[in-house]
Amino acid sequence: MRAVVFESAGNLTLAERPEPTAGHKEVIIEVAAVGVCGTDTHVFDGEFEGTIFPLVPGHEASGIVVAIGAGVTHVAVGDQVAVNPSTTCGECEYCLTGKSNLCRAWNGLGVVASDGASQERFTAPAANVFKLKPETDVYQAALIEPLACAIRAYDILPRKMSEHYLVYGAGTMGLLMAQLAPRAGAASVTIVDLNEGRLATAREVGIDNAYTSANDAGREKWDVVIDCTGNIRAIEDGLPRVKAGGTFQHFGVAPAEAMANYSPFRVYRDEISIVGTMAVLNSFGRAVEMFEAGAIKSEPMISHSFTLEDYPQALEMFRKGTGRKLQIRPNDSSSKVFHA
Ligand SMILES: NC(=O)c1ccc[n+]([C@@H]2O[C@H](COP(=O)([O-])OP(=O)(O)OC[C@H]3O[C@@H](n4cnc5c(N)ncnc54)[C@H](O)[C@@H]3O)[C@@H](O)[C@H]2O)c1
Ligand SMILES: [Zn+2]
Ligand SMILES: [Zn+2]
Repeated sequence: MRAVVFESAGNLTLAERPEPTAGHKEVIIEVAAVGVCGTDTHVFDGEFEGTIFPLVPGHEASGIVVAIGAGVTHVAVGDQVAVNPSTTCGECEYCLTGKSNLCRAWNGLGVVASDGASQERFTAPAANVFKLKPETDVYQAALIEPLACAIRAYDILPRKMSEHYLVYGAGTMGLLMAQLAPRAGAASVTIVDLNEGRLATAREVGIDNAYTSANDAGREKWDVVIDCTGNIRAIEDGLPRVKAGGTFQHFGVAPAEAMANYSPFRVYRDEISIVGTMAVLNSFGRAVEMFEAGAIKSEPMISHSFTLEDYPQALEMFRKGTGRKLQIRPNDSSSKVFHA
């Protein structure tokens, strides 16, 4: 069986690995698709805290169950599934108080110490495997993992009826956050990205208020402003646009050492809430339900798929910021273009 292996920081190989076998409460999944995201580049570059090499990357996975171990009852061979990559210790202060996404020993499959899905078949703990309906598109279902992050983000937003939302960044995450806004009561949704191509995708998924600058949006202030770029200029542009009493959310991951300027006086005077959100917390099953309910238009969001052999090209393309969501399809015989 073939697997992409990050051997050490900056160094990957396509390796032959033995077929996995299912242990107690484990599931073996034939991978249909696994999304590429910024986390993969950070892991590859050796910048992700805690990664232990060698590691098979890939944490946004969907596929078909090909074997189950003893004690697995909620999925069967042949089921389509999506996989929550987060595993937590279950013992620390955070795990024991319902905040396991903040676990100090957080381990993501394909991110920290357990192999991920950039291989023909991979092993997941049964508790992380979520069954899909037979009619669900198993390739597009690889978007359920990022959707679970977006749903976590909404858990900590006010979600009041008739509020106006401004989202920075029309990458996968910004597009998901913007598409969920009407479900959270938004009266309007505006999206901003410097890249015109990304704005075209935003319009294809139904976000018509799409601009290269918030100055062009015909509105001065928004109730909720969400940064989905991690870019300091976007953050500094967005915070002053929050209406009094409103909320600014850091969804994007800024560089660990970066600092941003804002007015503490304004945060006080206008009661601005600044909130963060980190990964998935009890939101994966809800993401499956929202995905299967058609809450997002997934087809326009995926532009290319790559074979395991072409993994380096996928990483390269991701770094250039071209294309939309890029996927690895380990059991496909050729790479494909869905949207140029
Ligand atoms: N909080 C979480 O749980 C979580 C989960 C997944 C991803 N993320 C983070 O969310 C962010 C977005 O992820 P993605 O996969 O959509 O990334 P992406 O790179 O595909 O998209 C980011 C977009 O931001 C745009 N952008 C950059 N600078 C900008 C600026 N100054 N103004 C306007 N737009 C700008 C880019 O053109 C790009 O289209 C990343 O930082 C990622 O690490 C956070
Ligand atoms: Zn990801
Ligand atoms: Zn813990």
